[in-house]
Amino acid sequence: MGKKKFYIETHGCQMNFSDSEIASSVMIKNNFEITDNPRHADVILINTCSVRDNAEQRARNRLKNLTPLKKKKKDLIIGIIGCMAERIKEQLFEEEKKIDLIAGPDAYRNLPRLIETAAKKSKAINVKLSREETYDDITPFKIENKGISAFISIMRGCENFCSYCVVPFTRGKERSRNPETIIKEAKNLFSKGYREIILLGQNVNSYKWNSGFGFVNLLESVAGISPLLRVRFTTSHPKDLSDELLYVISKNENICMHIHLPMQSGSTRILNLMNRKYSREWYMNRIEAIKKIIPGCSVTTDIISGFCTETEEDHKSTLSLIEEAGFDYAYMFKYSERPDTPASTKYKDDVPEEVKLKRLQEVISLQRKLSHKSNINDLNKTFEVLIEGESKKNKNNFYGRNSQNKVIIFSKQKNYRIGDYINIKVTGCTSATLIGEVE
Ligand code: SAH
Ligand code: SF4
Ligand code: F3S
Repeated sequence: MGKKKFYIETHGCQMNFSDSEIASSVMIKNNFEITDNPRHADVILINTCSVRDNAEQRARNRLKNLTPLKKKKKDLIIGIIGCMAERIKEQLFEEEKKIDLIAGPDAYRNLPRLIETAAKKSKAINVKLSREETYDDITPFKIENKGISAFISIMRGCENFCSYCVVPFTRGKERSRNPETIIKEAKNLFSKGYREIILLGQNVNSYKWNSGFGFVNLLESVAGISPLLRVRFTTSHPKDLSDELLYVISKNENICMHIHLPMQSGSTRILNLMNRKYSREWYMNRIEAIKKIIPGCSVTTDIISGFCTETEEDHKSTLSLIEEAGFDYAYMFKYSERPDTPASTKYKDDVPEEVKLKRLQEVISLQRKLSHKSNINDLNKTFEVLIEGESKKNKNNFYGRNSQNKVIIFSKQKNYRIGDYINIKVTGCTSATLIGEVE
């Protein structure tokens, strides 16, 4: 008998992708083999997201597509893991009759035991949240092994309790990971040929190991591994974005000039209802500090349209702040009420669906213009690009990113390989990509 096989698929944010690498590592240590084909699997794990209702619907639809596989393989175990498992807990066994296993984000060490339980046709569930778990001794198994860019989780959980958000409930208390294990993992990845590390956390800039070692120290330590290693991080909360951090980015060539700074709304009244702990003015002050301290830095954001009580005037404030900040890119969402969040218990989800949609469309079309403008602004500039791979559309082209996190496509060059740095001059663009040639 060969090894048992597992298939894992991931929905949601980068933290979830990073968690799937941890869950996979646990499975492989316990004698399972990974497969990218659910038909070959003995265990199927769906790592889920609860941040908006449509994310949960997507997971349920995937489940509908995958459960028929049980007809052919009656011992097949299907597990829901991650944020949706944590939010709905054992009730999920009632709602989705075909699942065998439920594991929350802090229960991945337990997966082999849960699988044993499920194999005996007993209910296998662990949704305990931990105050300490950081999986710091587990080397993540790289599922999409492109070999150039890797995530490293540096903290887990969130205690900001933005009123619309489920994450504090699905991920629990904030805890930072031992920096020695982070640096060791980064060094190890670099020695295997990785050239970019993305430090991950729901709120990376509140990373704190002890009073003498915080996020800025960690960032400098990782950047210090080699000048050939790029360092990125996400997500920053505007309330914690210090000038000190900005100076560290500007001082270190290999800390990338890109900050993802979710704004959510341009109306201070709405920001207060959202419990974001900053005002429109504070947010704009941070944008100005970025532009001043790190000239050429790109800024991207997240925006929610149609939050409880949002008026046309609030919406206009959002549009005007988007314009003032001049984002290079944005992720834009329509407010989705999440059960048991502070907003769902305190406020009415009173913006009609069609108004939410209309406002979201206006936000998207404004941002599209700004993204295009930002790309046009890069024409004739030369950037150092880390070559990440072969372009899918044209095998004669490479693609890579500049420090600002923009994708640049250019024709393949003799003597240059994936993982190398190359200077590329931008000669053209679309609203989504830059096109360039070797300088
Ligand atoms: N910790 C990060 C990311 C959280 S989830 C942060 O604080 O920015 C990513 C984005 O999803 C959020 O920034 C927010 O814009 C959006 N989001 C979260 N909850 C939402 C909800 N209930 N409805 C719509 N969008 C939501
Ligand atoms: Fe959610 Fe706010 Fe925490 Fe981000 S900072 S995960 S939006 S509660
Ligand atoms: Fe979704 Fe959980 Fe991430 S709710 S956004 S997968 S932390």
